[in-house]
Amino acid sequence: MVKKTLGGINVLYPTPTTIVGAIVEGKPNFITIAHIGIVNHAKPFLISLSMGKPHYTNAGIKENKAFSVNIPSEDSVIATDYVGLVSGKKTDKSDVFDIFYGRLETAPMISECPLNMECKLFDVYNTPIHDLFIGEIVETYAEESVLKDGKVDLGSVKPLLFDMSSVRYWSIGQTVAKCWNVGKKMKQK
Ligand SMILES: Cc1cc2nc3c(=O)[nH]c(=O)nc-3n(C[C@H](O)[C@H](O)[C@H](O)COP(=O)(O)O)c2cc1C
Repeated sequence: MVKKTLGGINVLYPTPTTIVGAIVEGKPNFITIAHIGIVNHAKPFLISLSMGKPHYTNAGIKENKAFSVNIPSEDSVIATDYVGLVSGKKTDKSDVFDIFYGRLETAPMISECPLNMECKLFDVYNTPIHDLFIGEIVETYAEESVLKDGKVDLGSVKPLLFDMSSVRYWSIGQTVAKCWNVGKKMKQK
């Protein structure tokens, strides 16, 4: 099969669209972040955020060593896009959402988002253009309506999937098969 080369571009999409919250200059600020990853899925629960150095939010995360990662649902697409269009440098974004706090007190979380992760700063990796923040999740908050048998049900969360190629938000589709399971069919009998 002949394939076209695309020049080493990133095709690691979709990623979930998140809204990161932090206190900057004494006020809550929110920024849309889709370049996000899971570092460790067991304790300590570590996640990564890749945030361009000029963003206003970065200084607040460094100062307070705390931030939140909120998962918006499709209903919040306009506000999600808005906080990714304007900077706290010029626009006060502190009243865009209804805010609550957990035990860290400097990680503002968004009530409208069905899922929220409260994080303390674990490390910052300095890359030429981005601060790669590594956060340790100290608590996760979920709306009852997105839980099924105590577990997060993606179909109810309705996350916004980010795609850099089409520059669009996508919806999740249907499940395909069970992980760590369907492949068993290929095992030698
Ligand atoms: C859908 C979407 C995803 C984004 N993802 C990222 C990202 O992963 N990293 C980043 O540095 N900026 C990202 N941005 C851009 C920032 O959200 C944007 O520049 C924001 O206005 C910066 O806010 P601040 O200056 O108040 O911190 C994204 C924007 C949108 C709309």
